[in-house]
Amino acid sequence: MYGAGGIGCYVGGRLAATGTPVTFVGRQRMADELAAQGLRLTDYLGADLRVDDVRYETLPAAAAEADLVLVTVKSAGTKAAAGELADVLKPGTIVVSFQNGIRNGAILRERLKDQVVVPGMVPFNVLNRGGGVFHQGTEGALDVQRHPGLAPYVDSFARAGLPLKQHDDILPVQWAKLLLNLNNPINALSDLPLREELSQRAYRRCLAAAQAETLELLDAKGITPARLLPIPMHRFPAILRLPDFLFRRLAGKLLAIDPLARTSMWEDLQAGRPTEIDYLNGEVVRLADSLDRPAPVNTKLVQLIREAEVIRRPWSGADLLRELQG
Ligand SMILES: NC(=O)c1ccc[n+]([C@@H]2O[C@H](COP(=O)([O-])OP(=O)(O)OC[C@H]3O[C@@H](n4cnc5c(N)ncnc54)[C@H](OP(=O)(O)O)[C@@H]3O)[C@@H](O)[C@H]2O)c1
Repeated sequence: MYGAGGIGCYVGGRLAATGTPVTFVGRQRMADELAAQGLRLTDYLGADLRVDDVRYETLPAAAAEADLVLVTVKSAGTKAAAGELADVLKPGTIVVSFQNGIRNGAILRERLKDQVVVPGMVPFNVLNRGGGVFHQGTEGALDVQRHPGLAPYVDSFARAGLPLKQHDDILPVQWAKLLLNLNNPINALSDLPLREELSQRAYRRCLAAAQAETLELLDAKGITPARLLPIPMHRFPAILRLPDFLFRRLAGKLLAIDPLARTSMWEDLQAGRPTEIDYLNGEVVRLADSLDRPAPVNTKLVQLIREAEVIRRPWSGADLLRELQG
C-alpha cells in the first residue's frame, strides 16, 4: 500500500487480516500511531477486526520487492509518489491507482514506463477515527480496469471482503464517482457535516448545478457515466433540486450518513493541506476547455476552494447558490 492513510490502511488492513502479505508505506506519524495503538478496522455491517504484525515502513525502498502496488496517496501527491516508485520498482510490477479523479493513472504512467499501471476506484468511504481505527462507512466493491495481470490477486481481494470488480472501461466509472465528488467543495465551503449540508435544498441546488454542467459536457464528449447508485446519474440534478420534504421521501437513503461524517476536502482545508479540487471540479474545467466550452459553476467552485485554502469562511447555501448562479 503506497501512501497508507485512510484508504491504504483500510484496504491493506483487510488484505493483511485475511492472510495476504502486505507492506504499508507512508508517513512516520502513521507508523508511530499504528506501533502504539495497533490497527483496527470496523465497517457499516458491524465488522470489528484487529490486524496483528503490521509492517509499516516510511521509505520508498520498502516497495522494491512488491509484485502489486496499490497507490493511495491524495491526487496532489501522485507525481511525487510516481517518481519515488520509478526508482525502486521491478519492471512488470502491477501498480493500481485507488484514487479519486480521472488522471492519476496517466500521471503514474508518465514515470512508470516499465511497470503496468491500472486505474481503479474506491466507491466506499473510509473514516480515519484516529488511534489506529479506520471505519468503512458505506458499501461497495473495488472497481478496477480489467487486466490479466490482476488474476493472481482476485482471490485475495475476495477473501478480504473487498472483491475486485473489473471493468472493460473504467472511465465511465471514474466520471460517475467524480460527479458524486462534486459535492466535496460544496460540503467544505458549507463547513457543515455532510448530512446537514445535503438536507438543505440550497446546497443541493449548488451540487445540482455543478452536476448538470458536467453531465452536459460528458454528453458532448460521448461519455455516459456508469450507474453507481440505484438512481442513474443523469437523474441526480432533478432529484437534488426537489424541496426538502420530497427529497427526504424519495432519496432518504442518500441521507443515511453518519451524522458527523464530512468530506476529505473539508478535512484538508481544516488541516491546511492542499485539496484535490484540481482533480475533481478542475477536471470538469479541463473537459470544458477540451470542448471549447465554458464551465462557469465548476470554475467558480475551483476558485472558491483556492480562496478557502488561504482564508476560510463558511458559506450559507443561499450565498453559495447566488455566487454560483452569478
Ligand atoms: N477516504 C475516503 O473515504 C476515500 C474514499 C474513496 C476514495 N478516496 C480517495 O483515495 C485517495 C486517498 O485518500 P485517503 O483519504 O486515504 O488520503 P490520506 O488519508 O491523506 O492518505 C494518504 C496518505 O499518504 C501519505 N503520503 C502522501 N504522499 C506520500 C508518499 N510519497 N510516500 C508515502 N506516503 C505518502 C499522506 O501523508 P501526507 O498527508 O503527509 O501527505 C497520507 O498519510 C484520494 O484520492 C481520495 O480522494 C478516499
